[in-house]
Amino acid sequence: QTIYLKDYTPFGYLIDSVHLTFKLHPTTTRVLSRIAFRPNPDATDKTFFLHGEQLTLISAKIDGAEITPEVTDEGLIANVPDAPFVWEAEVEISPSTNTALEGLYMSNGMYCTQCEAEGFRKITYYPDRPDVMATFDVRIEGDEKVLLSNGNPGASGDGFAEWSDPWKKPAYLFALVAGDLVNHPGQFTTKSGKDVELNIWVRPGDDGKCAFGMQALKDSMKWDEDVYGREYDLDIFNIVAVDDFNMGAMENKGLNIFNSSCVLASQATSTDADFERIEAIIAHEYFHNWTGNRITCRDWFQLCLKEGLTVFRDAQFTADMRSEPVKRIDDVIALRARQFPEDQGPLSHPVRPEEFQEINNFYTATVYEKGAEVIGMLKTLVGDEAYYQALDLYFERHDGDAATIEDWIKVFEDCTGRDLTQFKRWYSQSGTPKVSVREEWQAESGTFTLHFSQSTAPTPGQDVKDPRVIPIALGLLNPNGDETHPTRIFEMMEAEQSLTFTGLGARPIPSILRGFSAPVMLEQDIDNARRAFLLAHDTDEFNRWEAGRDLARDSLINMILKDAAPDPAYLDGLKRVVTDTSLDAAYRALMLAQPTETELAGALAALGETPDPDKIYAATKALSKAKAGILADDLHALYSDNQPQGPYTPDAEGSGKRALANMAMALLGRLGQLDPAKAQFATADNMTQQIAALATLVREGAGTEAVQDFYDQWKSDRLVIDKWFGLQAGMADPDQAAEVAKALTQHADFDMKNPNRFRATLGAFAGNHAGFHHATGAGYKLLADWLIKLDPVNPQTTARMCTAFQTWKRYDSQRQSLIRAELERILATEGLSRDTHEMVTRILG
Ligand code: ARG
Ligand code: ZN
Repeated sequence: QTIYLKDYTPFGYLIDSVHLTFKLHPTTTRVLSRIAFRPNPDATDKTFFLHGEQLTLISAKIDGAEITPEVTDEGLIANVPDAPFVWEAEVEISPSTNTALEGLYMSNGMYCTQCEAEGFRKITYYPDRPDVMATFDVRIEGDEKVLLSNGNPGASGDGFAEWSDPWKKPAYLFALVAGDLVNHPGQFTTKSGKDVELNIWVRPGDDGKCAFGMQALKDSMKWDEDVYGREYDLDIFNIVAVDDFNMGAMENKGLNIFNSSCVLASQATSTDADFERIEAIIAHEYFHNWTGNRITCRDWFQLCLKEGLTVFRDAQFTADMRSEPVKRIDDVIALRARQFPEDQGPLSHPVRPEEFQEINNFYTATVYEKGAEVIGMLKTLVGDEAYYQALDLYFERHDGDAATIEDWIKVFEDCTGRDLTQFKRWYSQSGTPKVSVREEWQAESGTFTLHFSQSTAPTPGQDVKDPRVIPIALGLLNPNGDETHPTRIFEMMEAEQSLTFTGLGARPIPSILRGFSAPVMLEQDIDNARRAFLLAHDTDEFNRWEAGRDLARDSLINMILKDAAPDPAYLDGLKRVVTDTSLDAAYRALMLAQPTETELAGALAALGETPDPDKIYAATKALSKAKAGILADDLHALYSDNQPQGPYTPDAEGSGKRALANMAMALLGRLGQLDPAKAQFATADNMTQQIAALATLVREGAGTEAVQDFYDQWKSDRLVIDKWFGLQAGMADPDQAAEVAKALTQHADFDMKNPNRFRATLGAFAGNHAGFHHATGAGYKLLADWLIKLDPVNPQTTARMCTAFQTWKRYDSQRQSLIRAELERILATEGLSRDTHEMVTRILG
């Protein structure tokens, strides 16, 4: 059954208050609800339908009188008065058998909830839609030491606790946690002087991994006050770490619930990348308090209203806390790795989708990351000052609302007087625009013209694309490498448009799409000499990196398609940048990284070539050997000069140095020099260095012993053991990868019910490009076998992992038919979930 944006109608009733009582029990939890409804004057359809799934209805009453509603698998319908009334119900649910991890479930003996998007209907009968908002009072009865819900704490005593949330919220922001937890406490005073109690709640034994998250929370609270003027609005803010969680984290009002991998951090067990991600996710969920909770979404089609904006805000935060260009480069790498394949394949959908079957399938890179890019473009177009004015107006006008993208666009129009009709196409048109640039130089008149054209290939359901507004940041350099024209924004609005510069003494070198000012594919007809020039001279750090990346990519493509040798221009340029100690270490490490095999497969497909996974694998390996060769004399110094001094700190500087040193160590490994990796593995006092050393040893086929040692050292730390699974599945030799991954799924510590472990193993395997795409099809079969096994247990995670197949049409016909057979086998599975059914059907096309 497909749901359409155009069919939106408001619910027939409004809610004045919700009282919930939970009598907790692993298999027979009772949920009592008392809800005050009244007719909604703005609604015409007065059907009283309450969502409800997998509930046993014990009793239902209207205004105290017992009734017998009409109950289906999806909910119930009752006859209600055309006047305010009180609905009461008692239902029974079984949290301990809820393996889908949606609604109320148990993880390691603790009760917890996940209600976004439509999980509340597995807790009690309710209008489970984001435009129905209410204040909630909750009473929890249970033997657990800690009983938590949203809002501020009320009465509590032996075996019970009460909570009351004064802010109206939709049901998807409801949360409950009960368990024998311990807290890492903290405190924050808001700018208007209000004291807020902070807590991170964890299982006993994890309390030593909370300090970093607590600091990140305080930094986020301060940042949102300073930058967006947003203050926290309750007496308490709780974060809870849960081991079994489908996603990263959830912004429930006043009670954020986190996948433990996204909050627990320590020097010995977390990498620098983990620290940065944890800081960003804590910020993200905290920022939702305003962008998501105080202003929520009218319906799930508007998901990007809260997610795109909140991702944009957390990226601003990370850029402020760390390095702006490094954050931008990291985000663009991730966008190209995750969003571009989605946007250009069978799962392509607009930032604001117009139809879906299962909303959980639309928590995508397009909604989140492209959604954030769209906000970045809007900010670029209107300028910083107008952006923050518009945001102030948004918060003022829509506080307490369930809003739409139209509301969002309108505040920008009202603030700036701009007509944003065309800009709105970014929300409705799917696909990645291609922007081509042609240069024209007239020496006599000193005139330089850039001729731009844009086009977007058809995507499922959208054959014709209209031109979009594309903010193109650009500058000009002269042949000496000086910037003569600093960055300006060219607003492209037509399919074809030109920009002319006059009065130039010499032909300039343009630097186009600086900072990746729009999520497009830029096609420029430029040669390697030009790229090398930009790599050496561009003042825009993003484009400087991009020039190096393009050189690497083209060199790899020539190696793959033409058996060419690694490009000396690239290697020389790389050597110059990497040994330039005036550049920061993190940036040099990014320069040294090369495109992934998956990215190369995409680049080849974009050129109309069929990617050959084995050739890509071989070329990637050869290029890194060539890099090691040209840098041979520099690697030892790069390694030792970048060992951070003093105690470990996961900040930008320390992380950058470790990243660069670890790359040097890996390249030394390519030259057969394994002593640095062996020594580092044995002595590292932090996970970043330990796991990088392990990876180097494994890559060089010298890791057997270290893999065992690592397991012995960390077998009682589940998050570290996830890394252990992931590293082996992700790095296994392509010819053995399917066997290695299969053996890992038979390991005593493999547990398909734990999404982290499942993803660490099978997700990492699917990311082992040449292994997963092995010509035998063993990789495809292994993944399909496990998706079929997981689907009845956890549909959401199964459906998400189906995306491993989304690029299948890139490959040769033999691989395509192997994949098709697996997809059809999944689809033919009896009782397949709606989630997986929708994904597989769309992928098949
Ligand atoms: N709103 C959460 C976040 O981005 C994501 C939760 C999504 N959960 C889901 N089951 N679809 O922070
Ligand atoms: Zn979010």
